[in-house]
Amino acid sequence: MEVLRRRGKSIGFVPTMGALHEGHLELVRRARKDNDIVAVSIFVNPAQFGPREDFNRYPRPLARDKKLLQQAKADYLLLPSARAMYPAGESLFVEMNPGKKEDDLTRLYCGRVRPGHFRGVLTVCAKLFEIARPQRVYFGAKDYQQTVLIERLIHEFHMGIRFVRVATVREPDGLAKSSRNIYLSPAERERARMLSRTLFNLRDALQTGRRDLKNLLNRARAVLAKNAGAVDYLEAADPLTLAPLTKVQRRMALLAACTVGKTRLIDNVIIHL
Ligand code: PAJ
Repeated sequence: MEVLRRRGKSIGFVPTMGALHEGHLELVRRARKDNDIVAVSIFVNPAQFGPREDFNRYPRPLARDKKLLQQAKADYLLLPSARAMYPAGESLFVEMNPGKKEDDLTRLYCGRVRPGHFRGVLTVCAKLFEIARPQRVYFGAKDYQQTVLIERLIHEFHMGIRFVRVATVREPDGLAKSSRNIYLSPAERERARMLSRTLFNLRDALQTGRRDLKNLLNRARAVLAKNAGAVDYLEAADPLTLAPLTKVQRRMALLAACTVGKTRLIDNVIIHL
């Protein structure tokens, strides 16, 4: 990749864990538009899965993924082995360690139920960026907390990479596309649509002038718990820092995660009032 870069080609990079769907392909298409060369990686990163999570059963339809990437006109597919990515095992990490514990964004929201997850994500992305040497990287807004952390990684490590956040691609009924949606039974799939529906309703209430944020969040949590599944979190946060909010402000991120059957789903909407 370094050779291409030295020849003056711009490289757009899309890191993924495979089991590609329209969400991933939208990132590839955006990268295609902005760059001379598009590189995609598929690596199911063991360091970001907890011991009781789905690393082993995570879908790996490689032949299908390759076909989709060809159709989307990606130029390079990086398929590193775990040995290549972690030559000395999982021994050196990118870790957040702020002065105050409550400022540790890797321990909030998804990080609370998935300890070590974002450490694994930050670490593997730092390595993948070194391998791909891109000018631009493309990430989906669906994993909003991940996007905020990757922007900080690029900024604080002076990586000189342009970060592009791409809007969440959804199913017709609103459910955010995810490689994990295939785990859902038909009945669970029906319940899963309540996740985006609840966030959209919350957004609509705020946009029509409601200001009782605490009330609205509590009501939305109850609706989600009743109609979808156990709620991990449903919060309003500042979209830049992800600091939790108790009062309405002009720009907000509404972030949610819940477990439908055994499948954990996340979603978010960003609002501008
Ligand atoms: P993965 O879940 O495969 O997602 C790869 C990229 O696709 C991420 O940037 C994610 O936000 C984006 N994406 C997933 N679903 C999307 C949707 N419905 N709409 C738009 N974009 C979507 O996220 C990871 O992999 C990993 O943590 C990774 C960054 C590759 C590091 O291992």
